Amino acid sequence: MPTLSDPLISGKITLKNRIVMPPMANDMSSEAGEVNDRHLSHYRARAEAGVGLIIVEHSYIMPAGKMTKKQLGIHEDGLTEGLKLLADAIRGAGAMSAIQLTHAGANTTADVCGCQPAGPADIPPPKRTEAPHPLELGEIEEIVAAYRQAARRAVMAGFDSIEIHGAHGFLLNEFVSPYTNRRNDIYGGSTENRLRLPLEVITAVREQAGPAFPLLYRFGASDFMQGGLTLEEAQKIAPLLVEASVDILDVSGGLCGSRPKDLADNQGFFVPLATSIKSVIDVPVIAVGGITDPLYANSVIAEGKADLVAVGRALLKNPNWAGEALHQMQE
Ligand SMILES: Cc1cc2nc3c(=O)[nH]c(=O)nc-3n(C[C@H](O)[C@H](O)[C@H](O)COP(=O)(O)O)c2cc1C
Repeated sequence: MPTLSDPLISGKITLKNRIVMPPMANDMSSEAGEVNDRHLSHYRARAEAGVGLIIVEHSYIMPAGKMTKKQLGIHEDGLTEGLKLLADAIRGAGAMSAIQLTHAGANTTADVCGCQPAGPADIPPPKRTEAPHPLELGEIEEIVAAYRQAARRAVMAGFDSIEIHGAHGFLLNEFVSPYTNRRNDIYGGSTENRLRLPLEVITAVREQAGPAFPLLYRFGASDFMQGGLTLEEAQKIAPLLVEASVDILDVSGGLCGSRPKDLADNQGFFVPLATSIKSVIDVPVIAVGGITDPLYANSVIAEGKADLVAVGRALLKNPNWAGEALHQMQE
């Protein structure tokens, strides 16, 4: 079995080691969503310290899908120049890059997105109170088109890969979840129908980026709530995501956010989810959740529980986490 410091050589992507920086929103942009020097130094520091893959924070594909006022944007061509500086900074520091494309769906407020938040149905995700406007078919088409345009910008900017956000109560998670998706048209009801929008987005991004471009999907593999998506159904969905051309599954969970309160302090709290998903697919899987200890991170890889480990808050706290972990592996 490989270790944390071993490369991952897989089809379309080669990573120098198994350490991933997961997407983490910093709200460091202007309200127009631009990259600035703080982004460059933030990501450069983690890349220089040895992270193999840096997934840049969630970036909104259209204003109606914006979650916070100072969120990074990828919704306009004018933003591409700044995004290129960011992709160059990460590459120059020796890491591979991805950028996460998002539509917040109902996981926002009218104050931020400038319109009534939209979702599959008029059910807000947990923690939100504003009832969303159920998307009409024409609006769904516009969202798919916006993902396609955002993918074009990500490729133009020079990112090595793209991650589509399908977790944490964002729009694509809201469509997959039977808790938030109460539609009775072709986008609701059966697993196949609830998965229709994510698959349309994957297809659009794939067509835009081309067959050789690595594509990641952040998959909320359990909503952890009554009436929500179960791991059992997620195990049926994962192979369909791969069939639709996803190259790496980044497994997370929680319709209510990325760090459920009762789990968030446990080392590796979503690793069992990742392992369960890994058992039904044959592409690399990223595991995440509360990982702070390099020896534990190594055990996730060495015991075959996942192919890559994402270290979030520990990397925010200590930009050199990867450098120290890789050093520890050599001892
Ligand atoms: C400040 C912060 C911002 C986050 N932003 C995002 C995001 O933009 N996209 C996403 O998919 N997850 C986001 N997450 C979730 C992380 O990617 C990660 O899954 C979570 O923090 C659990 O990993 P950890 O315990 O190692 O921090 C965020 C987490 C934090 C702490």
